Amino acid sequence: MNRNIRAAALACATIVSFAAPALADTELKIYISSQHQPNIWRKAIDQYEAKTPGVKVTIETGGNTSEAQAQYLNTVMSAKDPSLDVLILDVIRPAQFAAAGWTSDVEGKDLSSYLPAYAEANTVGGKTVALPAFADAQFLYYRKDLLDKYGIQPPKSWDELKTAAKTITDGEKNPNLQGLSFQGKAIEGAVCTFLLPYWSQGKALTNNGRLSFDHDAAVKSLALWKSFADDGTAKKNIAEVATDDTRKEFQAGNVVFAVNWSYAWAQSQGAESAVAGKVGVARLPAMAGGESATCLGGWEWGVSAFSAHQDEAKKLVAYLSSPEVSKFMAINASLLPTYADLYKDGDVTKAAPWFADALQVVETAKPRPVTPRYNEVSETIRTTVNAVLAGVSTPEEGASQIESRLKRILR
Ligand code: GLC
Repeated sequence: MNRNIRAAALACATIVSFAAPALADTELKIYISSQHQPNIWRKAIDQYEAKTPGVKVTIETGGNTSEAQAQYLNTVMSAKDPSLDVLILDVIRPAQFAAAGWTSDVEGKDLSSYLPAYAEANTVGGKTVALPAFADAQFLYYRKDLLDKYGIQPPKSWDELKTAAKTITDGEKNPNLQGLSFQGKAIEGAVCTFLLPYWSQGKALTNNGRLSFDHDAAVKSLALWKSFADDGTAKKNIAEVATDDTRKEFQAGNVVFAVNWSYAWAQSQGAESAVAGKVGVARLPAMAGGESATCLGGWEWGVSAFSAHQDEAKKLVAYLSSPEVSKFMAINASLLPTYADLYKDGDVTKAAPWFADALQVVETAKPRPVTPRYNEVSETIRTTVNAVLAGVSTPEEGASQIESRLKRILR
């Protein structure tokens, strides 16, 4: 080989050897709900990329509500589309996704280190079908500054809340100030809206998967929410309010009390918030004579069964579900940890002091019914809550509609 040819061959080899690692990069695409701070997850993923050469991760977001996201994922997964490798799933969905064959099992992780409710939600037929991303429950957010100004304690019952809201809104004389914001739109969150006062009366919706419906408790639940709209505690068009609307209105300083999930805290303390330093978070009020109840929320990481990168996707999910990431997301995005000891972690409670008392709330939060037909259960409840708040059905009619439809679904 003459010298020139050798040099040229060497140059080629050099190019090839530089190009090889780039060609070998595994590109993972991960789906994250847009409501749950994808920009902060991005930072956690940057740290993963930095210590995992050869893996690049891109984020896709979509839909601002749980069921909008589910609808999108249903389309992608029904088409067996391989473009998404990792999916974040609302706690109500891993069982459904696993049953449909849309997620792969993610064995090899000891689930006993997580809060028991999430170990349970992610285990189907003895298999681990997803790993916990973050915990969640609904809380009562309130304007601490306004309650202090009027010498009012956070309300323990919904009646107390009504009185407190009236005192404050009458006193403030600000036409934009709402007493209470909650979710009345026909979204997944409205299922929990219905269940809060229902459960608070000591009633269960299902017993061993069968319907155990208390008609009277259901009427009272629907009537309570409707009364807030009718007496001006909530705004007239509460039937159009979704979770992130509540978050935005509260953050803008236009709401005294709000029912919301943990993610709303970080943004209420952020640079764009009108209420930073003025927010308190407490357990939700109870029905008279009942106990405070809340819905178990949370999101889970699943690996798409159609991903061409099963091993890499599972490794990424194990990382995203680790104590390290749970702590990072608790501090930076106020997403509740899935590990019990992090609720007392000094860095976490510095960022969200109320997390110190939140573990007990999460541990006693009630799960929505677990059934392969959950989508129908959800649709029934959320559309009825919405119809009652919009004045289309009375609470009595709403309770009967829920009862007769659920009877057919949960047989
Ligand atoms: C929160 C909860 C989730 C729930 C949703 C309803 O994101 O974590 O479980 O379904 O709100 O809007």
